[in-house]
Amino acid sequence: MNITYHEASGIFSLRTEHTLYQMQADPTGHLLHLYYGLDTGDGMDYLVRCSDHGFSGNPYDQRANRGYSLDTLPQECSVSGTGDYRISALKTVDVHGSRSAELLYDSHRIIDGREPLEGLPYVHPAEDTQTLEITLKDPVIGLKVILLYHVFPETDVITRSGVLINESSTEIVVEKAASACVDIPYGTWDVIHFHGRHCMERMPERQRLGHGVTAFGSRRGMSSHHSNPFVILAAPTTGENQGECMSVMLMYSGNHLEEMEVDQTESTRLVAGIHPDGFSWHLGSGEKFSTAEAIISYSARGLNGLSQNLHELIRKYVIPEPFRKGIRPVLLNSWEAMYFDFDAEKILSLARSAAELGMEMLVLDDGWFGKRDDDNSGLGDWVVNESKLGCPLSEVSKKIHAMGLKFGLWFEPEMINEDSDLFRSHPEYAVTDPGRKPVMARNQMVLDMSRKEVVDYLYQAMTQILDHVEIEYVKWDFNRSIANAYSSALSAAQQGEVLHRFILGTYDLLERLRSRYPSLLIEGCSGGGGRFDAGMLFYCPQIWCSDDTDAIERLEIQRGTSYGYPVSTMGAHVSAVPNHQSGRVTGLKTRGIVAQSGTFGYELNPGLLSDAEKETIRGQIRDYRQYAELINYGTYYRLTELEHGDFEAWMFVSPDKQECLVNVVCTHVRVNGPYPFVRLMGLDPQARYCLETEKRTFTGAALMYGGFSLPQFRGEDPAVQLYFRQEAI
Ligand code: DGJ
Repeated sequence: MNITYHEASGIFSLRTEHTLYQMQADPTGHLLHLYYGLDTGDGMDYLVRCSDHGFSGNPYDQRANRGYSLDTLPQECSVSGTGDYRISALKTVDVHGSRSAELLYDSHRIIDGREPLEGLPYVHPAEDTQTLEITLKDPVIGLKVILLYHVFPETDVITRSGVLINESSTEIVVEKAASACVDIPYGTWDVIHFHGRHCMERMPERQRLGHGVTAFGSRRGMSSHHSNPFVILAAPTTGENQGECMSVMLMYSGNHLEEMEVDQTESTRLVAGIHPDGFSWHLGSGEKFSTAEAIISYSARGLNGLSQNLHELIRKYVIPEPFRKGIRPVLLNSWEAMYFDFDAEKILSLARSAAELGMEMLVLDDGWFGKRDDDNSGLGDWVVNESKLGCPLSEVSKKIHAMGLKFGLWFEPEMINEDSDLFRSHPEYAVTDPGRKPVMARNQMVLDMSRKEVVDYLYQAMTQILDHVEIEYVKWDFNRSIANAYSSALSAAQQGEVLHRFILGTYDLLERLRSRYPSLLIEGCSGGGGRFDAGMLFYCPQIWCSDDTDAIERLEIQRGTSYGYPVSTMGAHVSAVPNHQSGRVTGLKTRGIVAQSGTFGYELNPGLLSDAEKETIRGQIRDYRQYAELINYGTYYRLTELEHGDFEAWMFVSPDKQECLVNVVCTHVRVNGPYPFVRLMGLDPQARYCLETEKRTFTGAALMYGGFSLPQFRGEDPAVQLYFRQEAI
């Protein structure tokens, strides 16, 4: 049993292989958070201390017990207005305008397996997943809250979401509905969050949590390049390979907020969920609202251990089932090869060179539909531009398949240009404020995905193409932040629902397409990695990591992404030099090594390469095929710490520890510099590993404890890949 309830103490215990998450419905009915960490095999209620803290009031029934205050006790679902002055997970307004709520334990159920979350992405159940439903009620306002916990024992993950049900006869307005609330009563914590910008996503930043509130989030209508919905709390001494840390990751692609508060008792609260700014949901009598699912994990094996938990969970239980095994096709994408300047002939010649080099798929990026010769028009008109191509798209696809390649196509479904037939016939489909000129970005506007007819239109337009053209892959782009978040289909009171309804509409469209084309590989994208989140991964097993394809920049972007997400989800391509974004010239070997630690592909015109470069590419693809299983399903370790020096190193170890692949890329060649040195991880200490290029073997212990040094880097392509295989005994 992974979930137990101890009747006498009211303690709920959620156990994974190594961890324990514990709560208690105390005698007053409040649900207290007791503990989250390594499994102690004990009831942790002894940690809760009650003493009188000035200006921290008491619930009425406890007025004689001045030590009992919601302001100082660890809460499992903090609410506002009733004496807990710290950040709340839930904020409501009742029919009288009262902003107070108090949630008391009502009942619970422990169930084998789990139910899907209606309309929202969720973690698919493992064989041993169990669900705990705890029902809390506020009888005064008639609100029922069902907290849902799911346990994924093997990955040390629990997930949490909640359902709010209005049991009153009047409306309740929900102003905040967070997914997770974790109170950590003791200790000093660092937070690691992942900030960024377009072309530099998911940059880890670590800071000590001081008193007061520290918050990160997005108000852009998308999870964003600027702040990933993922935070880690780490003990001050925690590093990549040692120490304790825990994380909360949201399965949500819209506005989000992660708040941490260190309070007067030095305890830390972490609340994460949909961003309350601009959000309000009118919950009519009998109606329900579901919060997004939060993925919560703990590791006592440092940040690498935490990442490994999340990688395993995402690979096995988040991405769509057909993509949990096997290796995705090595692709050639037309974007940086040709941008908008193509016709069928040019695309077919690109495909021919892709096939000659051993690639497996040709992706036709932006520009094939409507009137779209630059990025100012056409979005919304998902009709093939046959006069630009010179023939039907089905013919292009047929010819590409005849070359032995798969065919992929770009869409940006949620957008509309003013200069489009769709806008001319349905201006009301665009999200925009009444009487105000909209904020434009890339000269485009956002479609009102909260309207069912918009989702229906997109479904019809996309299936019209996907049904008639042989297409194995779709790149799903999203190239602006949302502004003027107003829907002409909703009442004035409901405008606070627009951005969440937008995301629900997007998920609905993705869900419909997924069920119609289960084997269609959808790669998420948002100007690169602007919507790289576990919500999108539920539908799209890979996401284009960044529009910055410079290999040296990508080292940081992919490393930052790796804290939460496995390399099998990171779209990564070798592009041309000088790099189109940075102008830097990086060697082809380095570019190959970096892109291989992702869903490998190319983004260049092979017709412009020398024979030697083409030969190198053939070799890279051969190597990738040899290592792909190890890279995609092996255990990933960052070998350099966050503040590293002149090189970045990482490795993959096969689950049976038989083989490993070590990658080292130098970012700054030093004359007369130190020898690059790495300590390998995750090997069998007793086994001997052979490194063919050095024609010798090493014990796993030597490679892990003694480490491995490399010759000083020189030249234009300072990168190495070392493949070690266990010797047969
Ligand atoms: C942004 C994407 O990230 C690029 O890869 C490319 O698809 C362009 N959009 C096309 O407009």
